[in-house]
Parts: sequence; C-alpha cells; structure tokens
Amino acid sequence: MAGSAVTNGEALTPEAAHGWIERWDAQQQLYMPDREERFTALIDAVEAAVGRPDPLVLDLGCGPGSLAIRLLRRLPRATVVAVDADPLTLALGRAAWSGQAGLSFADADLRGPGWSSGLALDRQPDAAVSTTTLHWLPEAALNAVYAEVASLLRPGGVVLNGDHMREDDTAPRLVGLGRALIERADQRRRAGGETETWDAWWQAAAADPDLAALNDERLGRQVESEHHGSPAGRLSVHVRALRAAGFAEVGTLWQLGDNRLLCAVMPG
Ligand SMILES: C[S@@+](CC[C@H](N)C(=O)[O-])C[C@H]1O[C@@H](n2cnc3c(N)ncnc32)[C@H](O)[C@@H]1O
Repeated sequence: MAGSAVTNGEALTPEAAHGWIERWDAQQQLYMPDREERFTALIDAVEAAVGRPDPLVLDLGCGPGSLAIRLLRRLPRATVVAVDADPLTLALGRAAWSGQAGLSFADADLRGPGWSSGLALDRQPDAAVSTTTLHWLPEAALNAVYAEVASLLRPGGVVLNGDHMREDDTAPRLVGLGRALIERADQRRRAGGETETWDAWWQAAAADPDLAALNDERLGRQVESEHHGSPAGRLSVHVRALRAAGFAEVGTLWQLGDNRLLCAVMPG
C-alpha cells in the first residue's frame, strides 16, 4: 500500500506482513543455519517439561512471532504471550497472526523493571522461552529479567533460552571453536545462493512507507543499543544469573558450537 497516509502499521495487510516475516525468517536462518532445529528442540522441551496440553508460555523478545507461532502449531491449546520492545516487528506479528487463537503480543521493554506488570497474566506461566534475544541485554538487565521470570513462573516452571552463548574468555580456544562451527555451517548454507542480510532486511523495511514510522519509533527506543558486546553473550553470565534468581537446575539441552538451548528449572 505504498503512498498510503497511514504509516503506523494499520495499513499493513496480512499478506504483506507474511511476506516480511518470510524474509525475516530467511535472514535469521543466515546467522543460525540450524534455527529450525533449535526451535524444534525448544518446543520439544516445553512439551516434555510442562506436563499439560494448555501451558501458559511467555516468549521474551518475540520479534514477529516466529517461535510463538511454531509453538502454537505444535501445542494448539497453549497460550503464548509474546513480548517485544520493537514496534515494527510487533506490528508485523499482529498483522500476520491476528486470527491465531492463544497468541497475544505485548509491547514491553525487558530492560525496564516491572516489564511483566502490563502482561495481564491470569495465572502463573509454565514456561518462559526466548530465541536470539537475551544476548542483547546489558548484564544488570539480564539478571533482573531472570529474577522477574523466577517470580512469575509456577513451581517447577522452566526457562528455555535458545541463543549464542559462548564460553568464557579464559577458554579462548573453545570460544574460537564454538564460533568456527557456526561459521562453517553458515558457509555451507550460503553456498546455496544469496540471502538477504539483517541490515538489508532493516533497510528494506525502513524504505516501505507502511513501516517507516514504526522504524523511526524503533530507532528512538534504541532497542539495539547494547546488542553487540554485552556480557550476556557469555554462557557463564546466564548460568550465574539463573542460579542467583533461584533456579534449581541449569544446563544445556541442545548445542551446535556456541549456539545452544539453555534450560533452567524452578524448584518444584
Ligand atoms: C534477533 S531478534 C529475535 C526475534 C525472535 N525471537 C526470533 O527468533 O526470530 C531479537 C529480538 O529481541 C528484541 N529485543 C531486544 N532487546 C529487547 C528488550 N530490551 N526488550 C524487548 N525486546 C527486546 C528485539 O526487538 C528483537 O525483536
């Protein structure tokens, strides 16, 4: 709908939103060749951990809802509250999946204390899940997010975080090898042809008149300000924060190089 006067997302059609989300998934897969496999492992773990067909699940840093929608396809009686601070990807998710039972999107910044107070949860969540998001947070915010999640989850509830989490700098060869495995897998995939990058996707979105105002709002929120170089890119920072938040068991369930699925379980 180029040329429309409406620029804050109302002009987005479901078809246009689906097109953007397809391109989103393709560019994300460029950086995580096994992204779908990690989604599958994460959803398997939710299914095995929660012990009920209708869990309440929080998706932290949901983007346009890629994980949430896959989870609901597998567990159609689940309720997923998908949280993000980016107005553009939230608008895409809302436009694409407005008819999806069990799915709602919430605009909240995980860097702010009390981010969960606006989620209108009517019971304790069974799980909090996240993909490729928590490494964006400053360390203090990551600690606070895990503490807030621990205060919300039901006894025995789980965190499942799929993200790049490298070993400590005291193990530099492991850090290098962890990266090398991802890069080699990326190269094998890229041999198949050109794919849009993260930057190119955002440039294209900013150039769409129906998304431009949302992109301006996103830039104003500085969601990406700590994305690169945060200590939250290290596994030990997550493990320490989860233990400090009161999780009883913390460990990796699935891994390729530094790309892993970290699980933490609340005391039951
Ligand atoms: C790489 S994307 C991943 C999105 C989605 N989970 C996926 O796997 O496709 C990272 C997401 O984290 C969100 N994010 C980063 N920092 C955030 C914060 N402080 N509060 C809420 N969301 C945040 C971004 O807006 C973005 O949508």
